[in-house]
Amino acid sequence: MTLPGAPFLARDGADLRLEGHALADLARRFGTPLYVYARRAMLAALQAYQHALRGRPHLVCYAMKANSSLAVLQTFAQAGCGFDIVSGGELARVLAAGGDPARVVFSGVGKTRAEMRQALLAGVRGFNVESLGELDRLDEEARALGRRAPVSLRVNPDVDAGTHPYISTGLKDNKFGIAHGQALAAYCHAASLPGLQVVGIDCHIGSQITQLEPYLDALDRVLDLVEAVEAAGIPIHHVDVGGGLGITYTDEQPPAAGELVARLLQRLDARGHGRRELLLEPGRSLVGNAGVLLTEVLYLKPDPEEYVGEGGRNFCIVDAAMNDLLRPAMYEAWMAIEPCVQRATPPRRWDVVGPVCESGDWLGRNRLLAVASGDILAVLSAGAYGMAMASNYNTRPRAAEVMLDGEQVHLIRERETVQALFAQERLIP
Ligand code: LLP
Repeated sequence: MTLPGAPFLARDGADLRLEGHALADLARRFGTPLYVYARRAMLAALQAYQHALRGRPHLVCYAMKANSSLAVLQTFAQAGCGFDIVSGGELARVLAAGGDPARVVFSGVGKTRAEMRQALLAGVRGFNVESLGELDRLDEEARALGRRAPVSLRVNPDVDAGTHPYISTGLKDNKFGIAHGQALAAYCHAASLPGLQVVGIDCHIGSQITQLEPYLDALDRVLDLVEAVEAAGIPIHHVDVGGGLGITYTDEQPPAAGELVARLLQRLDARGHGRRELLLEPGRSLVGNAGVLLTEVLYLKPDPEEYVGEGGRNFCIVDAAMNDLLRPAMYEAWMAIEPCVQRATPPRRWDVVGPVCESGDWLGRNRLLAVASGDILAVLSAGAYGMAMASNYNTRPRAAEVMLDGEQVHLIRERETVQALFAQERLIP
């Protein structure tokens, strides 16, 4: 069986290894829960995009919400990558990691005035604006600073990305973007505002997309608008098609990044837009399969009735929980779970659950595993939306993170301390 994350993640005899490092050893050395990433896997994923885009005007802007740890950002910044940010906090992280603000695009439906000022002063490459109200506010803030804000309108192409409703963003009833039918008028308005400079057009239709067609449909809808807006005398420099390319968690077979890019470029060429700069905002597909979450089995609580059919429940209680990895609880997401050292004993079906006081706190249900208390399990494909969505629910300090780079092992985030969790709280005098 090929593991999601191969070839960087592989079995070597009984041992599960990431970039050649035995994961059970790393769990012993750094403790659990522990996120472990393969730097080379991240770089290979980025190169797949960059390689397919070579010779064409382009910028890959890593959607850092997927994993915003400084060393991850540093890895991408050093490889010439730009960033897609959605908050002032994310901008501060990019700068702290050595990223170039001139390669940053600022997305999001609810930018505050303070965030607009921060981004204008930093000199970001552009704002992806999502409403008319935001256009006016950005114009005011830019003029007050004596600047012109570079803007793209995020248009809602109204295409179905065919993904989970919580992560589908390009449909009419989603809160995102400016409706396709309103976009031309919005561009005319933007072009009339002295604090703004129209530079591009943007869309993003969803996440964990496993087909090419929604991208090509969205691109067509966006190019229709480009042509209408340019016919109205407003030049549009770049087209940003957002992120969203899926990864393999179980048996999904998303197109490769190179294939997606090739098809997008083909469509641009076919419609006479071959020289237009193409921006992409991949998040998950750059980091998802580069990371795992390691967790120790605390207790096994087999079903006392030993019922083995549907609904029989054997609980494998581990030390990682929904606060460490929210995806299963939030989206009922299926993520592979593998023992770090395989046992020869016969497997049985377990619900792998965390210590948090919620029935929704599970990492995987009905998984065939041979496990014993003290074993280390790896939740695979956890590099994206894992640590970035972690919380302190149940006053649980967030996990530590390790970045592997060939022979090297770097602790890139220390385990959070309990003191840090309430250091900013005050008792009432
Ligand atoms: N650009 C914009 C404007 C976005 O909103 C997103 C993701 C991306 C790019 C990157 O999408 P990606 O390439 O990672 O699919 N927490 C969810 C995913 C939420 C995605 C939100 N927006 C999950 O764990 O599945």
